[in-house]
Amino acid sequence: MPSHDMTALADASAAASTVGSEWWRSAVIYQIYPRSFADASGDGIGDLPGVTTHLDDLKQLGVDAIWLSPFMTSPQKDAGYDVADYCDVDPLFGTLGDFDDMLEAAHARGIRVIVDLVPNHSSDQHVWFQEALAAAPGSAERARYMFRDGKGENGELPPNNWESVFGGDAWTRVTEADGTPGQWYLHLFDTSQPDFDWSNEVVRAEFRRILRFWLDRGTDGFRVDVAHGLVKEAGLPDYTPDPESGSMGGDEADVPYWGQPGVHEVYRDWHGVLAEYDGDRALCAEAWLPTIEKTALWVRPDEMHQAFNFEYLETAWDAAKLRAVITESLRAYPAVGAPSTWVLSNHDVVRHASRLALTAENPQGFGIGPNSPGTPIADVGLRRARAATSVMLALPGSAYLYQGEELGLPEVIDISDDARQDPTWFRTKGERYGRDGCRVPLPWDATGPAYGFSPDGASWLPQPAEWATFARDVQVDDPASTLSLYRALLAERRARDLGVSALEWVDGLGDDVIAFHNGNVTVIANLGETPIAIPAGTVIVTSERLTGDTLPVDTTVWLERH
Ligand code: BGC
Repeated sequence: MPSHDMTALADASAAASTVGSEWWRSAVIYQIYPRSFADASGDGIGDLPGVTTHLDDLKQLGVDAIWLSPFMTSPQKDAGYDVADYCDVDPLFGTLGDFDDMLEAAHARGIRVIVDLVPNHSSDQHVWFQEALAAAPGSAERARYMFRDGKGENGELPPNNWESVFGGDAWTRVTEADGTPGQWYLHLFDTSQPDFDWSNEVVRAEFRRILRFWLDRGTDGFRVDVAHGLVKEAGLPDYTPDPESGSMGGDEADVPYWGQPGVHEVYRDWHGVLAEYDGDRALCAEAWLPTIEKTALWVRPDEMHQAFNFEYLETAWDAAKLRAVITESLRAYPAVGAPSTWVLSNHDVVRHASRLALTAENPQGFGIGPNSPGTPIADVGLRRARAATSVMLALPGSAYLYQGEELGLPEVIDISDDARQDPTWFRTKGERYGRDGCRVPLPWDATGPAYGFSPDGASWLPQPAEWATFARDVQVDDPASTLSLYRALLAERRARDLGVSALEWVDGLGDDVIAFHNGNVTVIANLGETPIAIPAGTVIVTSERLTGDTLPVDTTVWLERH
């Protein structure tokens, strides 16, 4: 294992050894979706050496940490969220040596590295699952997963009525070694993603080992996939989800496989493992729950450190609703000693440069495609996205960015059916478009092969022609570009310590306005339909060019506070 040059990181967190000053309380964390970030090998799929190549660009952007979606050994049935070996790198993405090199290069630049851990399920190609298939019902091998006998006279019916998040049944029947139809196993996601049984201590011990494997290599933390799903209600009672609810069932209370109380024990245990290491290692929960109050249970002092604020992500472009969700977030998370986090985009949702211009008849839950009603108007979406990010990066707490949002990338809507890859698309027989539209490989260079993504021009999802106008190289020196806006916001946020300051609402500017002080900055965002007058003052940064002393619609300004 390499010895890491930790000087830059030590500088970045000189004060971060006392409770309350840890780096993750205010960090801006940039999500890398490795297969779509940058391809060094030329096979059309991004990889770890591609990440290393662009670390200087991320340093220049001004982020504190990167989180990488899974790059472990995987048959890629769910783009790597189906892990066959938790302690190795899939050859598609490189080698463990490439990971060590990337981590060392990131640390040398003062950028921390968060790894995605998938504990709810493995791949069906994981050696444990293969052993389980070969073993008999009731064996120790089967007990690491959720195998059950079927209902009906000959066990021909699934053990209960649960549905997969990706559509279809959540149970698949296996054929036993003697060739007869046998038991069923649970998979809350694709058939190729069998759920572990977290009541089994063997599973718990294995994940402690996996955590230590990555912590020993210098990893700064983990984004924990489906962190609300590990423990299932005893007896596995039937449950029918509301068809209108989000794909992760987050809107509903009392789901027998989401948010069960027993899951907290797992994270208390993991908290202890991370605490054995120096450097304020952190856990961030991907937990879709019905309220902020509930999500805050995941970040009590002896559990995880952060949880994604999906309530914020799901809030419409509406001043009153945003004020309410910000107020509640800044109450509920600090009430348990945690920072609030903020996020607008990730690899599972419609990019916010499109989502914020969707109309009510086109809900964002299951992705958008050529036949979705109410195609978002691109200019409106981008303008709102720039204004929304300018609000988000002024908020106290930790913020997550998703690769490409700093370029203003929209959702790619026009992907042909035969190019689609998301299991959601296949499992719902085309009824839900799924998530391919936010996963299209990044444009780095307007005129290069695959817009600079891959040396030979290959790309695992087709890139649209408009990628040329969004490419990083055409934005980097343009002061009006979205990239320049993000760089300015991040530089000012850091210089003015906005991540650790306190928010104070400013009233009296109108119902369609969000206005607050944070530290020495006054932030005003106009979400209404007419320009508003703004107080005289020195402009620090603005999401659109200002002419005169009014703030146009869908625009945010940061002013020096008086
Ligand atoms: C990830 C998804 C993935 C699912 C199953 C999540 O919530 O973010 O991309 O498909 O978990 O692992």
